[in-house]
Amino acid sequence: MSLTGRISIVTGAGSGIGRSICKVLSNDGAKVIAADINLSAAKETISGLSTESHSLEINVADSKSVANAVQESINKFKQPPSIVVNSAGITRDTYLLKMLEKDFDDVINVNLKGTFLITQHFAKAMIEHNIKNGSITNLSSIVAKLSNIGQANYSASKNGVISITEVASKEFGKFNIRVNAILPGYIETPMTAVVPEKIMQQVIAKCPLNRLGKPEDIANVVSFLSSDKAAYINGASIEVTGGLY
Ligand SMILES: NC(=O)c1ccc[n+]([C@@H]2O[C@H](COP(=O)([O-])OP(=O)(O)OC[C@H]3O[C@@H](n4cnc5c(N)ncnc54)[C@H](O)[C@@H]3O)[C@@H](O)[C@H]2O)c1
Repeated sequence: MSLTGRISIVTGAGSGIGRSICKVLSNDGAKVIAADINLSAAKETISGLSTESHSLEINVADSKSVANAVQESINKFKQPPSIVVNSAGITRDTYLLKMLEKDFDDVINVNLKGTFLITQHFAKAMIEHNIKNGSITNLSSIVAKLSNIGQANYSASKNGVISITEVASKEFGKFNIRVNAILPGYIETPMTAVVPEKIMQQVIAKCPLNRLGKPEDIANVVSFLSSDKAAYINGASIEVTGGLY
C-alpha cells in the first residue's frame, strides 16, 4: 500500500488501535501526527516510527482543542493532513437504569461529538488547502449493531458515528474527500482488557475465526481505505469482526 507523500492524523493514537494505525500508516509511507489526550502516550507511539512524525495533545470533545490541532498540523507540515482517522473513544458501561448522566454525556461527547468536530475542522482545512485525495475513517463498533446490554451510551454513540459518516460522505464527495466507517469486533486492547473474562470467552466462541482481533487487523483496513486503492469506497461501514454475529 503506498501512502508515500501523504500526511495523516490519528486521534486516540496513544493506545490500542490508534497506536497500531500510526505504525501501519507509517510503514506504508505516510507522515504521521499522533494525537491523544495523553500526550506522553502519543509521544511513545511516534518514537518507533520510520517516517516523519509529530505528536500533539488533543481533547477531541473540545472545539478549541481541535482547532488548535488543525493549526499545529499545518504549522508542522505546511499543509493539513489528507488522511484523518478518528480512533479516540471511551466506554462507561453499566445498565441503563444505573447509568449516570455524566457517563452518558462523556461517551457521547468523546465518541460522537469528537468525531463530528474532527471531521468538520479537518475537512474544512482540506477544502481550504485544495487537498484532492482526502480520506476520513471513523472507528464505529459492531456494538452499534449488537446493542449489547450495559452499553446504551456506547452503542448510541457508535450508531451516531455511522450516521455522521454517511452524511459526510454525501456532503464531501464533491471535494473528493471520502468518508468511511469501520465496525471492529472485539480487539485486544486496553479498552477490552476490562471486559470480564467470561464474556470474552463467549465472544471467542461466537466468532467463526475463534479468536479476538488484533489492533493490526483494524489498522490494515484503515491503511487500505486511506489509499488510492479504495478510491471508489465512500460512505461504507465495513465490519472487521472475524465474522462475529
Ligand atoms: N478494542 C475494541 O474491541 C474496539 C471494538 C470496537 C470499536 N473500538 C473503537 O476503536 C477505537 C479505539 O479503541 P481502543 O481499543 O484502541 O481503545 P484504547 O482505550 O486502547 O485507546 C483509546 C485512546 O483514546 C484516547 N482518548 C480518550 N479520550 C480522548 C479524548 N477526549 N481526546 C483524545 N483522545 C482521547 C485515550 O487516551 C486512548 O489513548 C475507539 O473509538 C473504540 O470505541 C474498539
